Amino acid sequence: MLRIRYSIPLCLVLTGHFVSSLSIPSIPTSRQANAFSSATQTSPTRSFPLNMASAPTQDDGLMESAVDVMDSVNSSPSGSLASKTLPVLPTPKGMDQGVYTLNKVLIDTVYSMICFLYPVTGTERDFARFYVLETVARVPYFAYLSVLHLRETFGERYQGMSERMRTHYAEADNELHHLLIMESLGGNQNPLDRLVAQSAAFVYYWYVIAIFTFNESAAYHLSELIEDHAYNTYNKFLTEHADNLKSKPVPEIARKYYERDNPFLFDLFCTVKSKAGNDRARPLQLDTLHDVFVNIRDDEREHWRTLTNLVQYNDMNAVDASLVRSTKPVEAVSSLQ
Ligand SMILES: [Fe+2]
Ligand SMILES: [Fe+2]
Repeated sequence: MLRIRYSIPLCLVLTGHFVSSLSIPSIPTSRQANAFSSATQTSPTRSFPLNMASAPTQDDGLMESAVDVMDSVNSSPSGSLASKTLPVLPTPKGMDQGVYTLNKVLIDTVYSMICFLYPVTGTERDFARFYVLETVARVPYFAYLSVLHLRETFGERYQGMSERMRTHYAEADNELHHLLIMESLGGNQNPLDRLVAQSAAFVYYWYVIAIFTFNESAAYHLSELIEDHAYNTYNKFLTEHADNLKSKPVPEIARKYYERDNPFLFDLFCTVKSKAGNDRARPLQLDTLHDVFVNIRDDEREHWRTLTNLVQYNDMNAVDASLVRSTKPVEAVSSLQ
């Protein structure tokens, strides 16, 4: 099934879009309706407290919200559930087990290979590792944009399409600056590192193009896994080499991007809001290289939050940041509901 889905030539699909755009040029198509056609199970919303008894264990934050509601009800003069407008929370969608496993095996394997070739050593070679990771990790955003741009050219329109494209551009711009920072630290000095990074990026670009063309949520899930690895690798690096990083200066490109540039594009990729307030509040202040890596790590968390929302809700900001959880296989989600 997967082999068939992924092996159909890309040109047939693109031709299909082109033909349909010629025959029905004025009727907008709805990506919202079919984006999860093969990878998800559906139940559009869940409201508390009706389903509180069966709330999934993964959603500690959801339970927290339900408790908040119950507290507010109990403390109200009437104390009546019926008199309250309860929050309606969307139900997260799981990934098809086969797609989930394929994505996980692929990303874990590639990540393990990079860890083997570029172990974190606390030396300048660490920047080569991050250069390779950043070169590959930003590619999916170009791929999403390429496919969406082509569909748009062939007449496809749906509500929120432009916003999604702008966000993917902002994410690509953010990843570009991570890459520029690594280059400023000497991560791209070795021709062999450049060959590894650019070859992997070239192959991965076309892979994501193919996956995104047939199954958007599967392609978003691939990146969700990558961004999770990225966050963890930077977090570990910060923990293990804090003193060394605090002794080093801030690269000029980082100061420009995080401190001086117009924050429009930066804010655009931070799609998932937090009820606890904005933890990336301006002005961002960089004193040492440690602060730079803290921001890079937190950027990766923003990307992960957006991608998990896209995979589970087909929406860039469906739930509060405190409610975001990694995507699970559809069977695991069903068993929790
Ligand atoms: Fe990055
Ligand atoms: Fe990222």
